[in-house]
Amino acid sequence: MAKITPTPVIVLKDLKKRFGLGDAEHYAIDGINLTIQKGEFIAIMGPSGCGKTTLLNILGLLDSKIEGDYELEDRSVATLSSRRQAHIRSQQIGFIFQSFNLITRMTVIENVALPLIYKGVTQTARLKQASAILHNFHLGEREYYMPHQLSGGQTQRVAIARALVNDPSIILADEPTGNLDSYASHIIMEELSDLHKRGNTIIMVTHNPRLTTYASRVITMLDGRIATDTQTPNRKSETGTKRPLGKKKRTKRKKEQTA
Ligand SMILES: Nc1ncnc2c1ncn2[C@@H]1O[C@H](COP(=O)(O)OP(=O)(O)OP(=O)(O)O)[C@@H](O)[C@H]1O
Ligand SMILES: [Mg+2]
Repeated sequence: MAKITPTPVIVLKDLKKRFGLGDAEHYAIDGINLTIQKGEFIAIMGPSGCGKTTLLNILGLLDSKIEGDYELEDRSVATLSSRRQAHIRSQQIGFIFQSFNLITRMTVIENVALPLIYKGVTQTARLKQASAILHNFHLGEREYYMPHQLSGGQTQRVAIARALVNDPSIILADEPTGNLDSYASHIIMEELSDLHKRGNTIIMVTHNPRLTTYASRVITMLDGRIATDTQTPNRKSETGTKRPLGKKKRTKRKKEQTA
């Protein structure tokens, strides 16, 4: 296999995040040094309250009040305007969070197509792309349902489809399969695995040790710090050997659509 040159996409230098004031002051992130290469699939584990979600929020530019340095693709996030950060968030980053809400007045397909508006995609193309990803998630028959007509697991899958529809190169997932049954979890994990194989970077928080088999690296956290950091023999997927998500995936999705 060809040797892949590592390309750091995320570099954290003595990252700290402090919450509260006075007696209530504490560090949720307490000095993290970490380099994440393009195309890695990282699983983050650790006990409740150790700072996993706080870290994801920082990585996803949702929280910029930090100490230390966060470099995203060679640029220190501290130097980016909030407008620039919002642009990067909408173009490059896909969030899969547990508390995501669909817009109740919109159909499933309109919800999924929403992020593409910010990319300037035409309406017809938006609906086509949304339809394709819904088919990938086995939700093709629910395109024109309203959110209240879905089960909890289906709602979660629609929200995940919405997070991934604009082909983000960095995917941040906070317990993406937390509330799902094993069938729905499998669909989500296969989709993440596929995104990983196409060269995208995935950072996933999970409490489920079995899901770490999808990852190329497992990081455990404790009290706002990294406790262990282990490269894993990548059993379920391989790193960076395929082209990033984009044209190829679209073609595949288009084919599925017309089939
Ligand atoms: N907005 C906030 N204000 C004050 N403290 C906060 C805030 N957000 C998180 N914390 C604290 O920071 C610490 C880390 O929280 P975080 O949500 O990152 O934990 P976690 O590892 O994601 O836990 P879980 O596995 O339960 O989701 C906790 O002690 C939490 O109480
Ligand atoms: Mg959390």
